[in-house]
Amino acid sequence: MQLLDGKALSTIIKSEIKQQVEEWTATGGKKPHLAAILVGNDGASETYVASKIRSCEEIGFSSTLVRLNPDVTETEVLAAVQTLNNDADVDGFIVQLPLPKHISENTIMEAIHPAKDVDGFHPINVGRMCKGLPAYLSATPFGILEMLQRATIETSGKHCVVIGRSQIVGLPMSILMQRNANPGNCTVTICHSKTQNLKEICQTADILIVALGRPEFVTADYVKEGAVVVDVGITRVADPSKKSGFAIKGDVNFADVAPKTSYITPVPGGVGLMTICGLLTNTLKATRKEIY
Ligand code: GUN
Repeated sequence: MQLLDGKALSTIIKSEIKQQVEEWTATGGKKPHLAAILVGNDGASETYVASKIRSCEEIGFSSTLVRLNPDVTETEVLAAVQTLNNDADVDGFIVQLPLPKHISENTIMEAIHPAKDVDGFHPINVGRMCKGLPAYLSATPFGILEMLQRATIETSGKHCVVIGRSQIVGLPMSILMQRNANPGNCTVTICHSKTQNLKEICQTADILIVALGRPEFVTADYVKEGAVVVDVGITRVADPSKKSGFAIKGDVNFADVAPKTSYITPVPGGVGLMTICGLLTNTLKATRKEIY
């Protein structure tokens, strides 16, 4: 079994981006600027956004955090989006999800200008990705592709099973794994809450990507000997022994599953850390106008 080490790989990728920023600005290019809108004060979202902002500082980007109260109206969020759409200094921005229930995430995502949509959630970017056109890939799929590619894992002709059909992970991941590219060229099965015989389907996976948000759901009996297992789960579970009061759990029971795999991502220290690299890569592309 080999560990797909997101901590080590994300450090390498961030230093690569930092180098590219230095070269770009040394030749007169504009310093990349990422902005984030954070609505409310959900603990996990606070942590993720703080980490995104910190990463910007590390690699030489400017960053702006726009905080809105949890009781803000949809119209007010749309106004904040328009302000960033119109701000020529901001190259790309994100609206951290989830949003409070009274705000439509789809409405907000559609309001972001596609050229500044560095999360890759706008229907134009999703559509371009589906058609194989240049587009911002969303952060988690980017991170997973990067891990597979840099570990030179053969994906062509393999059976890839994706558990979860979310707009952010499961759906784009399934599309990217079947496209004619490397990584890609898989036969893909996408499973969800209504799937019958889930365990039997998973047992046929050469590559199993788990993104359903149920801590330690996948046990060894779901996994074929020698499979590649990618765990996208990051759930906070109460743990009084930790200073923070919680532990982060993946969707895979690591201790049980790891001995059966050829490669596996740990949680924490796996896919989660790679996602920020996707966001930073997209922001640099936005600054250099590589897609639009
Ligand atoms: N919430 C969980 N993952 C993400 C992400 O990749 N982008 C945004 N904007 N919100 C998220």
